[in-house]
Amino acid sequence: MSNIQYNKEIPVTCSISDEIGMTELGAQLAARVKPGCIIYLNGDLGAGKTTLVRGFLRACGYQGAVKSPTFTVVEPYSLDYNKLYDYNKLHKGFKIDDPIDHVSISNSDIIKQNTQKIYHFDLYRLEDPEELEYLGIRDYLDGQAIALIEWPEKGQGVLPKADLLIKITHQRQGRGVKLQPQSKFGVAIVSRLALKLNKSVES
Ligand SMILES: Nc1ncnc2c1ncn2[C@@H]1O[C@H](COP(=O)(O)OP(=O)(O)O)[C@@H](O)[C@H]1O
Ligand SMILES: [Mg+2]
Repeated sequence: MSNIQYNKEIPVTCSISDEIGMTELGAQLAARVKPGCIIYLNGDLGAGKTTLVRGFLRACGYQGAVKSPTFTVVEPYSLDYNKLYDYNKLHKGFKIDDPIDHVSISNSDIIKQNTQKIYHFDLYRLEDPEELEYLGIRDYLDGQAIALIEWPEKGQGVLPKADLLIKITHQRQGRGVKLQPQSKFGVAIVSRLALKLNKSVES
């Protein structure tokens, strides 16, 4: 158990030495999200954004290939939420009366539907954020779907606000990952991850 003090004002950083660690982070994240959660993934080409998404989707029971939808912009997944829910329980991701934060998180949203929509966006090739409107982004992100968005800066102004911003940078070996909450729920996610991960907290 880590002795890191939870402080919602600060981001959490960690070093991830290899691809397996990155998929594990994605899985840990999957255990702490809820419907409607929007996550921005920031980092250069080859940083490991898609690797993290792959880990996330695998944890939700998806076994197929996961690639960056660079040309199609978005890849939809319709997953069995019971699997994610079981995963959540297993990893104690959700707890309604979690003392760590004061955000009320209910599982009822999850239980009432059997499938969870997850959208993986890659906006790298977007020339104008307006293209997201033509794509029907509002229909995709309906408040229930979970979105993992690579190159969110290309959709600035049209993309909905994130709950969590994840910045990945190259290190000499492996990658540095900074988790920055952008909403109350983002704070809840990051505080839980902070307890789980063996990481350092920035001051
Ligand atoms: N933490 C890590 N340390 C070292 N290599 C990593 C790490 N995470 C991912 N990689 C590797 O980086 C490469 C690019 O990953 P990818 O997820 O496609 O990047 P992005 O989507 O950011 O362009 C892959 O070969 C992957 O194995
Ligand atoms: Mg990618």
